[in-house]
Amino acid sequence: MDNILVTGGAGYIGSHTCKQLYKAGYMPVVYDNLATGHEDNVRWGPLVHGDIRDRDQLRHAIKRWQPQCVIHFAASAYVGESTVDPRKYYNNNVAGSLALLDTCVDTNLRNVVFSSSCATYGIPSKLPITEDSPLAPINPYGRTKLIGEMMLQDYVDAYRMRYVALRYFNAAGADLDGELREKHDPETHLIPRALMAAAGRIDMLKVFGDDYETPDGTCIRDYIHVMDLAQAHVSAVEHLLDGGKNMVANLGSGQGASVKQIIDTIERLTHRRVPVQCEPRRAGDPPALYSDVHTATSELKFMPRFSDLETIIRTAAPTFGLEVAHELVA
Ligand code: UFG
Repeated sequence: MDNILVTGGAGYIGSHTCKQLYKAGYMPVVYDNLATGHEDNVRWGPLVHGDIRDRDQLRHAIKRWQPQCVIHFAASAYVGESTVDPRKYYNNNVAGSLALLDTCVDTNLRNVVFSSSCATYGIPSKLPITEDSPLAPINPYGRTKLIGEMMLQDYVDAYRMRYVALRYFNAAGADLDGELREKHDPETHLIPRALMAAAGRIDMLKVFGDDYETPDGTCIRDYIHVMDLAQAHVSAVEHLLDGGKNMVANLGSGQGASVKQIIDTIERLTHRRVPVQCEPRRAGDPPALYSDVHTATSELKFMPRFSDLETIIRTAAPTFGLEVAHELVA
């Protein structure tokens, strides 16, 4: 059984990926400082409680577990926070990635799957977004992810590193078996907040802007089920272990959905109202983002299976005490 080092493996996307790695016959070795991750998400292999900036501990973990590949999730990932506390983002995401990559080079661990983001594109000039679209991030979070990609490219050239960078669109939903769920604190993402409003856990959902130049005036995003994302990471690991080329790939559903469509789908499936209040636009929100996923489809055999809105909402709803009757799901 090959070991795979998973930094940030106690977090939302990381833990779902560990489960898929295990099912595919790998042992995920989670390396996480538990700043935002949860210890009870680590169930499919050992947990090393450590920070990626601690090079000694990282080196020790790599020597102990001899992983064939690292999947690097560990990062800070709130766009809004990154604009008010950019040093945290440069520290965790840039200095942290530097420490990890240096330690990988020093220990001869050459295969890296990197969590990147559609935030590297900024406001796209055309849709759907292909990987060769201009990279012009509009917030510090996106810039730190772009720097991570640039570091990898330079390490390929200089140190024979090999990598797949995956640019996620909007991760959503939860494990179909109900073993894992989305537990962000604070929770800022649209689908969990809308479900919290439907469940009466918050007074209402604030809708950030209904005057965009989109068909219903609300922002359009590309929601991808976390299990589809997780499976794509397994494919990326296998691509590298099979000697595949260095690459960058978008990971989304390839479809856009508006804030209003999300609310409508939640109301239809849960039979609850989502109380809403319209607010001004949120700073730094592009009007529409959705992916072209042909690269992932052709190079990683990526095939989203659960990324329709119904499945996303059906799997996310139980986290907030809401049930969705199965017969309502298409
Ligand atoms: N939104 C609301 N109300 C809320 C929360 C969100 O109207 O309470 C809207 C946002 O304005 C946006 C959409 O719902 O139009 C989605 O917002 P999220 O906060 O759920 O997600 P983002 O698109 O802002 O962020 C995601 C990832 C980031 C990534 C970013 C790239 O979470 O990690 O996409 O743009 F960087």
